[in-house]
Amino acid sequence: MASSKLSYFLFYVLGLLFLSHPVFSNDEEDKLFQSLNNFRQSQKLPEFKKNDNAACLADKLADKLEHRLCSSSQKYSIEPGNGPKFPKFDKLRRRCHIETNSTTAGIIWPVCVPDLDEDLVLNNYTRSHYAKYLKDSKYAGVGIGSEDDWVIVVLTTDAQSGSFASGAASLGAIGMIHYMAAVLVGLFLVLLC
Ligand SMILES: *[C@@H]1O[C@H](CO)[C@@H](O)[C@H](O)[C@H]1NC(C)=O
Ligand SMILES: *[C@@H]1O[C@H](CO)[C@@H](O)[C@H](O)[C@H]1NC(C)=O
Repeated sequence: MASSKLSYFLFYVLGLLFLSHPVFSNDEEDKLFQSLNNFRQSQKLPEFKKNDNAACLADKLADKLEHRLCSSSQKYSIEPGNGPKFPKFDKLRRRCHIETNSTTAGIIWPVCVPDLDEDLVLNNYTRSHYAKYLKDSKYAGVGIGSEDDWVIVVLTTDAQSGSFASGAASLGAIGMIHYMAAVLVGLFLVLLC
């Protein structure tokens, strides 16, 4: 009895955590995040904050590009508002609960490097002529996604037009409630054991 209750609660907690935390980053993404912030520091600029919605979109876009050839990366011009050039952009945007007009000032920046060699990836961001975007204090947040040879960096702004903010405020509230419930149940489990 006790153990079936316990497994029920475990499933419940795991379910809630998956619902409220759809974004998982991997080591390579964390390293790139750190390296981009080192670059910002070297430019005497504030560090990028993590933007979870942008990371969600970056992951999903990377999934879509996964099987494309590196040589096709030129197709996705790196300019503000280039989102619609990506396959299924609007569908993926909605799936990450990102409001319609909150991506136009953002930058979506794909880089394709065989085996995601760390130095080549970083150099592709910091040593290309698009590095002007990394040096621009207007861009304050970042979301990173990667799959196979592709990495996508999304730069967001504090202004609404590039915030990648969630459409309905209630979505954020529901996420928060799930999170708090999960924390409470987690505490309960700790007390139980
Ligand atoms: C987005 O922007 C367009 C053009 O500025 C406007 O017509 C539309 O109503 C906006 N949509 C939302 C959901 O704010
Ligand atoms: C970017 O990556 C490619 C491999 O896809 C590499 O050949 C190129 O040298 C890199 N560019 C920079 C500036 O590091």
